[in-house]
Amino acid sequence: MAKPILAANWKNYPNSLSEAQKLLKDLSKKRALFKKTSLFIIPPYPYLESAALRIKGFGALGIQDLSLEEGTHTGEVTPQIVKSFGAKLAIVGHSERRAMGESVELIARKIKLALHSGLSPLICIGEKERDHDGVHFEKMREELKKLLSGLDKNEAGKIAVAYEPIWAIGRSASEAIEPADLSQTAIFIKKVLNDLFGEAVAKKIPILYGGSVEPANAEALMKSGVRGFLVGHASLNAKSFEEIARSITK
Ligand code: PGA
Repeated sequence: MAKPILAANWKNYPNSLSEAQKLLKDLSKKRALFKKTSLFIIPPYPYLESAALRIKGFGALGIQDLSLEEGTHTGEVTPQIVKSFGAKLAIVGHSERRAMGESVELIARKIKLALHSGLSPLICIGEKERDHDGVHFEKMREELKKLLSGLDKNEAGKIAVAYEPIWAIGRSASEAIEPADLSQTAIFIKKVLNDLFGEAVAKKIPILYGGSVEPANAEALMKSGVRGFLVGHASLNAKSFEEIARSITK
């Protein structure tokens, strides 16, 4: 069976290089544990080199966004640069970037660029709020169609989807999604992927969950039909992150 995927979205933390190095050092002490997962460390750009050196042999690097700019652009970082550090994956469409104005059309272009650049896009989707009539499911279907309909089957086989309900991000385990609701949503996303690309391709697309994954809820959520997690705040604490890894590799 494929290993569970554990992706650490450090966002704009920790606040200093020395703290980042300490965190990486602590994680590397548990390399045997993390080897049981497909581990991705997704740090702020300035920490890429330290992370690349420290996670060699037990993890891979990811980036938190992708620059669409070509040519000369002050302040931008190209896919080529991050690839030269060994990055394998790119988060696209995170809700915190959408809140800064990213449209679905722009995210669809980023998905294409990631694939074109040899980075696997980890595509974030998720509703602002759940409604009992299931309207958010329909919105999700429409959005997935818009994001993915430009992909051929070969490209589709290289993506991953992170279901991250916005209302559950940056809270605590007790406020995260319930396993039964996650299970229902994972089935729904799989169905949409099946309809878009057929069963053989849809099977290859891992579905992750993100939004207040902590040691307290990781094990139960893992049983909800997802392949792993995109972890924010709990990935900044070596102990919590290890506990999450332990509970999903039992
Ligand atoms: P969180 O963040 O684990 O802190 O909720 C997840 C994310 O935003 O990717």
